[in-house]
Amino acid sequence: MIEEFADRWALVTGSSSGIGVEFAHRLASRGMHLVLTARREEAMRELAGELHTRHGTRCEIIPGDLADPSTPARLMEEIRNREIEIELLVNNAGFAIAADIEATDTQRVLDMLQVNMTSLTELTYAVLPTMLAREHGAIINVASVAAFQPVAFMGPYAASKSYVLHFTEALWAEARDRNVTVMALCPGITRTSFFEVAGVPNWLKKHSSQSPEQVVRAAMKGLDKRRQYYVSGWKNYILSLAVRLASRKMAVTESMKYFRPKKKKRDDKRTNAET
Ligand SMILES: NC(=O)c1ccc[n+]([C@@H]2O[C@H](COP(=O)([O-])OP(=O)(O)OC[C@H]3O[C@@H](n4cnc5c(N)ncnc54)[C@H](OP(=O)(O)O)[C@@H]3O)[C@@H](O)[C@H]2O)c1
Repeated sequence: MIEEFADRWALVTGSSSGIGVEFAHRLASRGMHLVLTARREEAMRELAGELHTRHGTRCEIIPGDLADPSTPARLMEEIRNREIEIELLVNNAGFAIAADIEATDTQRVLDMLQVNMTSLTELTYAVLPTMLAREHGAIINVASVAAFQPVAFMGPYAASKSYVLHFTEALWAEARDRNVTVMALCPGITRTSFFEVAGVPNWLKKHSSQSPEQVVRAAMKGLDKRRQYYVSGWKNYILSLAVRLASRKMAVTESMKYFRPKKKKRDDKRTNAET
Protein backbone atom coordinates (compact mmCIF):
# COMPACT_ATOMS: atom_id res chain seq x y z
CA MET A 1 0.00 0.00 0.00
CA ILE A 2 2.79 2.42 0.91
CA GLU A 3 3.93 2.32 -2.74
CA GLU A 4 0.77 4.32 -3.60
CA PHE A 5 2.27 7.17 -1.59
CA ALA A 6 5.50 7.63 -3.54
CA ASP A 7 6.10 11.26 -4.51
CA ARG A 8 3.37 12.42 -2.07
CA TRP A 9 3.69 14.14 1.29
CA ALA A 10 3.65 12.71 4.80
CA LEU A 11 3.54 14.66 8.05
CA VAL A 12 5.47 12.90 10.82
CA THR A 13 5.17 14.34 14.31
CA GLY A 14 7.88 13.58 16.85
CA SER A 15 10.43 13.18 14.08
CA SER A 16 13.46 14.34 16.09
CA SER A 17 14.13 10.96 17.71
CA GLY A 18 13.19 7.31 18.15
CA ILE A 19 10.27 5.81 16.25
CA GLY A 20 9.57 9.09 14.43
CA VAL A 21 13.07 9.18 12.92
CA GLU A 22 12.62 5.60 11.76
CA PHE A 23 9.26 6.48 10.16
CA ALA A 24 11.00 9.30 8.33
CA HIS A 25 13.70 6.95 7.00
CA ARG A 26 11.22 4.31 5.95
CA LEU A 27 8.82 6.70 4.21
CA ALA A 28 11.59 8.61 2.42
CA SER A 29 13.03 5.29 1.22
CA ARG A 30 9.63 4.68 -0.42
CA GLY A 31 9.87 8.03 -2.20
CA MET A 32 7.72 10.14 0.10
CA HIS A 33 8.38 13.82 0.80
CA LEU A 34 8.15 14.72 4.46
CA VAL A 35 7.02 17.47 6.77
CA LEU A 36 8.95 16.94 10.00
CA THR A 37 7.83 18.43 13.28
CA ALA A 38 9.06 18.27 16.91
CA ARG A 39 10.70 20.78 19.23
CA ARG A 40 14.36 19.95 18.45
CA GLU A 41 14.99 21.72 15.18
CA GLU A 42 18.68 20.84 14.83
CA ALA A 43 18.02 17.09 15.03
CA MET A 44 15.40 17.40 12.29
CA ARG A 45 17.73 19.47 10.09
CA GLU A 46 20.37 16.74 10.28
CA LEU A 47 17.76 14.10 9.48
CA ALA A 48 16.40 16.09 6.53
CA GLY A 49 19.92 16.43 5.09
CA GLU A 50 20.56 12.72 5.43
CA LEU A 51 17.24 11.78 3.81
CA HIS A 52 17.82 14.13 0.91
CA THR A 53 21.29 12.73 0.29
CA ARG A 54 20.13 9.12 0.50
CA HIS A 55 16.78 9.27 -1.26
CA GLY A 56 16.59 12.63 -3.06
CA THR A 57 13.24 13.34 -1.42
CA ARG A 58 12.14 16.71 -0.05
CA CYS A 59 11.76 17.64 3.61
CA GLU A 60 10.09 20.65 5.18
CA ILE A 61 10.82 21.33 8.83
CA ILE A 62 8.25 23.08 10.99
CA PRO A 63 9.38 23.08 14.64
CA GLY A 64 6.72 23.30 17.32
CA ASP A 65 5.67 22.32 20.79
CA LEU A 66 2.57 20.14 20.62
CA ALA A 67 1.90 20.77 24.32
CA ASP A 68 1.01 24.30 23.24
CA PRO A 69 -2.68 24.27 22.16
CA SER A 70 -2.00 26.75 19.34
CA THR A 71 0.62 24.57 17.63
CA PRO A 72 -1.55 22.18 15.54
CA ALA A 73 -3.42 25.07 13.85
CA ARG A 74 -0.15 26.95 13.19
CA LEU A 75 1.45 23.81 11.81
CA MET A 76 -1.43 23.19 9.42
CA GLU A 77 -1.43 26.84 8.33
CA GLU A 78 2.29 26.63 7.51
CA ILE A 79 1.67 23.44 5.56
CA ARG A 80 -1.12 25.13 3.55
CA ASN A 81 1.12 28.18 2.93
CA ARG A 82 3.74 25.87 1.44
CA GLU A 83 1.00 24.37 -0.78
CA ILE A 84 1.53 20.88 0.57
CA GLU A 85 -1.24 18.26 0.65
CA ILE A 86 -0.77 15.71 3.39
CA GLU A 87 -1.62 12.21 2.17
CA LEU A 88 -0.15 10.31 5.11
CA LEU A 89 -0.22 11.60 8.68
CA VAL A 90 1.86 9.85 11.32
CA ASN A 91 0.80 11.12 14.73
CA ASN A 92 3.83 9.78 16.57
CA ALA A 93 4.82 12.54 19.03
CA GLY A 94 4.19 11.52 22.59
CA PHE A 95 5.72 10.92 25.97
CA ALA A 96 5.04 9.25 29.30
CA ILE A 97 5.40 10.09 32.96
CA ALA A 98 6.15 7.35 35.47
CA ALA A 99 5.62 8.53 39.05
CA ASP A 100 3.62 7.84 42.15
CA ILE A 101 0.76 10.12 43.14
CA GLU A 102 2.72 12.47 45.42
CA ALA A 103 5.56 12.89 42.94
CA THR A 104 3.30 13.63 39.97
CA ASP A 105 3.66 17.08 38.42
CA THR A 106 0.09 17.90 37.39
CA GLN A 107 1.06 20.50 34.80
CA ARG A 108 3.34 17.99 33.10
CA VAL A 109 0.48 15.49 33.03
CA LEU A 110 -1.75 18.09 31.37
CA ASP A 111 0.98 18.81 28.82
CA MET A 112 1.24 15.10 28.11
CA LEU A 113 -2.51 14.78 27.54
CA GLN A 114 -2.32 17.76 25.19
CA VAL A 115 0.46 16.13 23.13
CA ASN A 116 -0.74 12.51 23.25
CA MET A 117 -4.47 13.16 22.75
CA THR A 118 -5.60 16.70 21.97
CA SER A 119 -2.99 17.68 19.39
CA LEU A 120 -3.24 14.23 17.81
CA THR A 121 -7.01 14.68 17.54
CA GLU A 122 -6.75 18.16 16.06
CA LEU A 123 -4.22 17.09 13.44
CA THR A 124 -6.34 14.07 12.56
CA TYR A 125 -9.41 16.22 11.90
CA ALA A 126 -7.30 18.75 10.03
CA VAL A 127 -6.40 16.23 7.32
CA LEU A 128 -9.05 13.52 7.39
CA PRO A 129 -11.95 15.33 5.61
CA THR A 130 -9.68 16.15 2.62
CA MET A 131 -8.47 12.55 2.50
CA LEU A 132 -12.07 11.34 2.45
CA ALA A 133 -13.02 13.85 -0.26
CA ARG A 134 -10.19 12.67 -2.52
CA GLU A 135 -10.70 9.04 -1.46
CA HIS A 136 -7.03 8.59 -0.80
CA GLY A 137 -4.91 8.83 2.32
CA ALA A 138 -3.88 7.19 5.57
CA ILE A 139 -3.30 8.09 9.19
CA ILE A 140 -1.17 6.16 11.65
CA ASN A 141 -1.80 7.14 15.25
CA VAL A 142 0.88 5.78 17.57
CA ALA A 143 -0.79 4.23 20.62
CA SER A 144 0.90 1.54 22.73
CA VAL A 145 0.36 -1.90 24.27
CA ALA A 146 -0.37 0.18 27.37
CA ALA A 147 -3.63 1.12 25.60
CA PHE A 148 -5.14 -2.27 26.43
CA GLN A 149 -5.15 -1.89 30.21
CA PRO A 150 -4.74 0.55 33.07
CA VAL A 151 -1.11 0.85 34.20
CA ALA A 152 -0.34 1.85 37.79
CA PHE A 153 2.20 4.67 38.24
CA MET A 154 1.64 5.52 34.55
CA GLY A 155 -2.11 5.99 34.75
CA PRO A 156 -2.57 9.12 32.62
CA TYR A 157 -0.17 7.83 29.94
CA ALA A 158 -1.89 4.45 29.58
CA ALA A 159 -5.31 6.15 29.58
CA SER A 160 -4.16 8.60 26.90
CA LYS A 161 -3.10 5.67 24.72
CA SER A 162 -6.47 3.91 25.31
CA TYR A 163 -8.04 7.09 23.96
CA VAL A 164 -5.78 6.98 20.90
CA LEU A 165 -6.65 3.33 20.27
CA HIS A 166 -10.42 3.75 20.64
CA PHE A 167 -10.57 7.06 18.76
CA THR A 168 -8.57 5.58 15.90
CA GLU A 169 -10.57 2.37 15.65
CA ALA A 170 -13.81 4.35 15.48
CA LEU A 171 -12.46 6.50 12.64
CA TRP A 172 -11.13 3.40 10.88
CA ALA A 173 -14.68 2.02 10.75
CA GLU A 174 -16.06 5.31 9.39
CA ALA A 175 -13.36 5.78 6.75
CA ARG A 176 -12.63 2.25 5.56
CA ASP A 177 -15.10 2.22 2.66
CA ARG A 178 -13.70 5.46 1.30
CA ASN A 179 -10.19 4.19 0.59
CA VAL A 180 -8.75 5.89 3.66
CA THR A 181 -7.09 3.84 6.41
CA VAL A 182 -6.87 5.15 9.95
CA MET A 183 -4.73 2.77 11.98
CA ALA A 184 -3.49 2.69 15.57
CA LEU A 185 0.03 1.35 15.96
CA CYS A 186 0.64 -0.36 19.31
CA PRO A 187 4.34 -0.81 20.04
CA GLY A 188 5.58 -2.62 23.12
CA ILE A 189 8.85 -1.70 24.80
CA THR A 190 11.01 -0.03 22.16
CA ARG A 191 14.64 1.11 22.43
CA THR A 192 14.29 4.90 22.29
CA SER A 193 14.69 7.81 24.71
CA PHE A 194 11.08 7.25 25.81
CA PHE A 195 12.03 5.71 29.19
CA GLU A 196 14.57 8.41 29.97
CA VAL A 197 11.93 11.07 29.28
CA ALA A 198 9.43 9.12 31.42
CA GLY A 199 11.85 9.27 34.36
CA VAL A 200 12.71 5.55 34.42
CA PRO A 201 16.02 5.47 32.48
CA ASN A 202 17.13 2.03 33.76
CA TRP A 203 13.89 0.36 32.91
CA LEU A 204 14.82 -0.47 29.33
CA LYS A 205 17.84 -2.54 30.41
CA LYS A 206 15.70 -4.89 32.45
CA HIS A 207 13.17 -5.91 29.80
CA SER A 208 13.15 -7.39 26.32
CA SER A 209 12.50 -4.78 23.72
CA GLN A 210 12.16 -4.09 20.01
CA SER A 211 14.10 -1.69 17.82
CA PRO A 212 12.34 1.28 16.18
CA GLU A 213 13.05 -0.49 12.84
CA GLN A 214 10.98 -3.50 13.93
CA VAL A 215 8.15 -1.23 15.08
CA VAL A 216 8.00 0.74 11.83
CA ARG A 217 8.23 -2.44 9.76
CA ALA A 218 5.19 -3.69 11.70
CA ALA A 219 3.40 -0.40 11.02
CA MET A 220 3.96 -0.78 7.28
CA LYS A 221 2.62 -4.33 7.43
CA GLY A 222 -0.47 -3.17 9.31
CA LEU A 223 -1.05 -0.38 6.82
CA ASP A 224 -0.71 -2.80 3.90
CA LYS A 225 -3.41 -4.93 5.47
CA ARG A 226 -5.51 -1.83 6.16
CA ARG A 227 -5.86 -2.90 9.80
CA GLN A 228 -7.61 -0.79 12.43
CA TYR A 229 -4.82 -1.48 14.89
CA TYR A 230 -1.54 -3.31 14.75
CA VAL A 231 0.50 -4.58 17.67
CA SER A 232 4.20 -4.71 16.95
CA GLY A 233 5.76 -8.08 17.87
CA TRP A 234 3.98 -11.37 18.55
CA LYS A 235 4.84 -11.38 22.27
CA ASN A 236 3.24 -7.96 22.60
CA TYR A 237 0.24 -9.18 20.63
CA ILE A 238 -0.23 -12.13 22.99
CA LEU A 239 0.10 -9.78 25.95
CA SER A 240 -2.60 -7.53 24.51
CA LEU A 241 -4.94 -10.54 24.23
CA ALA A 242 -4.03 -12.02 27.62
CA VAL A 243 -5.16 -8.85 29.37
CA ARG A 244 -8.68 -9.47 28.07
CA LEU A 245 -8.79 -12.84 29.86
CA ALA A 246 -7.58 -11.53 33.22
CA SER A 247 -9.93 -9.79 35.65
CA ARG A 248 -9.66 -6.00 35.58
CA LYS A 249 -8.49 -6.08 39.20
CA MET A 250 -5.74 -8.55 38.39
CA ALA A 251 -4.63 -6.59 35.32
CA VAL A 252 -4.19 -3.36 37.23
CA THR A 253 -2.65 -4.84 40.38
CA GLU A 254 -0.15 -6.86 38.30
CA SER A 255 0.80 -3.64 36.50
CA MET A 256 2.01 -2.26 39.86
CA LYS A 257 5.11 -4.44 39.58
CA TYR A 258 6.36 -2.60 36.55
CA PHE A 259 6.64 1.13 37.11
CA ARG A 260 6.68 1.45 40.90
CA PRO A 261 9.21 4.21 41.59
CA LYS A 262 12.21 3.12 43.66
CA LYS A 263 12.13 4.06 47.34
CA LYS A 264 15.18 6.07 48.33
CA LYS A 265 16.21 3.56 51.02
CA ARG A 266 19.81 4.69 51.51
CA ASP A 267 18.90 8.34 51.81
CA ASP A 268 16.14 7.52 54.27
CA LYS A 269 18.49 5.37 56.41
CA ARG A 270 21.15 8.08 56.41
CA THR A 271 18.63 10.72 57.45
CA ASN A 272 17.39 8.45 60.25
CA ALA A 273 20.95 7.77 61.46
CA GLU A 274 21.75 11.49 61.51
CA THR A 275 18.71 12.38 63.64
N1 LIG B 1 9.51 3.56 23.25
C1 LIG B 1 8.51 2.80 23.69
O1 LIG B 1 8.72 1.82 24.43
C2 LIG B 1 7.10 3.09 23.26
C3 LIG B 1 6.14 2.11 23.49
C4 LIG B 1 4.84 2.34 23.09
C5 LIG B 1 4.50 3.53 22.48
N2 LIG B 1 5.44 4.48 22.28
C6 LIG B 1 5.04 5.72 21.64
O2 LIG B 1 5.84 5.97 20.51
C7 LIG B 1 5.85 7.36 20.22
C8 LIG B 1 7.27 7.81 19.93
O3 LIG B 1 8.06 7.68 21.10
P1 LIG B 1 9.56 7.16 21.08
O4 LIG B 1 9.58 5.84 21.74
O5 LIG B 1 10.14 7.30 19.74
O6 LIG B 1 10.21 8.19 22.13
P2 LIG B 1 11.25 9.40 21.90
O7 LIG B 1 12.48 8.89 21.26
O8 LIG B 1 11.34 10.05 23.22
O9 LIG B 1 10.51 10.34 20.85
C9 LIG B 1 9.39 11.12 21.19
C10 LIG B 1 9.16 12.14 20.11
O10 LIG B 1 8.01 12.92 20.47
C11 LIG B 1 8.36 14.30 20.39
N3 LIG B 1 7.68 15.11 21.40
C12 LIG B 1 7.63 14.90 22.74
N4 LIG B 1 7.04 15.92 23.35
C13 LIG B 1 6.70 16.81 22.37
C14 LIG B 1 6.10 18.10 22.38
N5 LIG B 1 5.72 18.68 23.51
N6 LIG B 1 5.93 18.72 21.20
C15 LIG B 1 6.34 18.16 20.04
N7 LIG B 1 6.92 16.95 19.97
C16 LIG B 1 7.11 16.29 21.13
C17 LIG B 1 9.87 14.34 20.65
O11 LIG B 1 10.44 15.50 20.01
P3 LIG B 1 11.07 16.77 20.79
O12 LIG B 1 11.54 16.30 22.13
O13 LIG B 1 12.16 17.24 19.88
O14 LIG B 1 9.94 17.73 20.86
C18 LIG B 1 10.34 13.08 19.95
O15 LIG B 1 10.60 13.34 18.59
C19 LIG B 1 5.20 8.06 21.41
O16 LIG B 1 3.88 8.40 21.09
C20 LIG B 1 5.21 6.98 22.48
O17 LIG B 1 4.17 7.14 23.41
C21 LIG B 1 6.75 4.28 22.65
